[in-house]
Amino acid sequence: MKKNIFNVAIVGLGHIGKLHSEIINSMTNAKVVAIVDTYPIKTNLPVFLSIKECNISHPEIDMYVIATPNGYHYQQAKEVLESGKNVLVEKPIALHKEQVKELITLSHKHNVRVFTSLQLRFSPVINYVKKLYENNLLGNLYLVTVECFWNRNTTYYEKNSWHGTKEIDGGVLFTQFSHFIDIMFYLLGSLELVNNKTENFSHQNCIEFPDTGILQFKSGKTWGNMVYTISTYEKNFESSITLIAEKGTIKIGGQYMNQLLYHNVENIDPVEIECNTNKFHKNLYEDIILSLDKNTPSIADAENAAEIIGFIEKTTS
Ligand SMILES: NC(=O)c1ccc[n+]([C@@H]2O[C@H](COP(=O)([O-])OP(=O)(O)OC[C@H]3O[C@@H](n4cnc5c(N)ncnc54)[C@H](O)[C@@H]3O)[C@@H](O)[C@H]2O)c1
Repeated sequence: MKKNIFNVAIVGLGHIGKLHSEIINSMTNAKVVAIVDTYPIKTNLPVFLSIKECNISHPEIDMYVIATPNGYHYQQAKEVLESGKNVLVEKPIALHKEQVKELITLSHKHNVRVFTSLQLRFSPVINYVKKLYENNLLGNLYLVTVECFWNRNTTYYEKNSWHGTKEIDGGVLFTQFSHFIDIMFYLLGSLELVNNKTENFSHQNCIEFPDTGILQFKSGKTWGNMVYTISTYEKNFESSITLIAEKGTIKIGGQYMNQLLYHNVENIDPVEIECNTNKFHKNLYEDIILSLDKNTPSIADAENAAEIIGFIEKTTS
C-alpha cells in the first residue's frame, strides 16, 4: 500500500470521531478527506449521509474509521469491507463474537484489513508490566483484580439517546469498561469466565442492563476477579488492576491505565514511567499504517478483539 498520504474518512463525527480527526490531521502522512454522518455537523470537509455515496465521490479513501454508536459498528464495518476498503472500528468492534468473526472472514475475502481501537495496549505502563510478566520476573502470577468504580448519572443517559439501550449501547462492559477487559487479555493471553453476578442498583429508569457486576475468571493457574459499577457517588472514583505474584505486587491505575500506583518486585527498583495518554491514538495510527505498508500484523488487528467480545457477551447472557 506504499503511498505518501493515507486518506481516511470518518463515519460519525461525534465526541471520539473528532479526536480521530484531530490525530489523523496532525500526522504528516495521513489526512481526513470526508465525513459520513446522519446528523447535521459543522465541518469544512465534504459530508455524506451514507458510506456508499462517500465511496462514489472519494475513491481515493484508504480506510474508514467507524466512530458511531456501538450497535451500528458491525453493519457499517461490513459495508466498508464489502466495498473493498480497510476499516478501523471504534471499540467495541461489535456486540457479538460471531459478528467479529464474520468481519474477519470478509476482510480476508476482499483482501483488506479490519482493525479496532485497542489504544490502551500502547500504554508504556501496561507494556512495562507485560514485559515483567512475560520475562518471568514476577514468577507465578497468582491473582489479578480489576476494580472499576465510575459514575454515569441519569443526566449522562438523558443527554445521549444511544447510551443505555441494550441494542445500541450493549452494556457497561462494552461502553465503559471494555478497555480493562482488553488489557486482561493483552497481559494474560486468554480468560475463562467462571462466575458472574450483576445488579442494577441505581439506573432502573434509564438503562436496559445492569449498572454493576462482580465476575470471576481464570487464565491458566491465575485467578482473577473484576468488580465494576457506574453507580459510584457523584464522580468517578477509581479504575485499577492489581497483580499479586510470587515475586512481586503491582498496581496500575488512572482512567487510561497510565499510572504505576504500586511496585514491589524482587530485585527491581521502582521505576518512573512517562505515560502521555494523548499519544495512544497516534501510536495506534502509526501501527496501522506501518502494518498496511509492510503487510505485517498490527496490535489493532480485529483478531485480537474477537475473544474479548465473546467474553463480554457471556457476562450479558
Ligand atoms: N476508544 C475509546 O477510548 C473510546 C472513547 C469514547 C467512545 N468510544 C466509542 O466511539 C463510538 C462513538 O462514541 P461517541 O462518544 O463519539 O458518540 P457520539 O454520540 O458523541 O458520536 C456519534 C456520532 O455518530 C453519528 N451517527 C449516529 N448514527 C449514525 C449513522 N447511522 N451513520 C453515521 N453517523 C451516525 C452521530 O451523529 C454522532 O456524530 C462508540 O462506539 C464508543 O464506544 C471509544
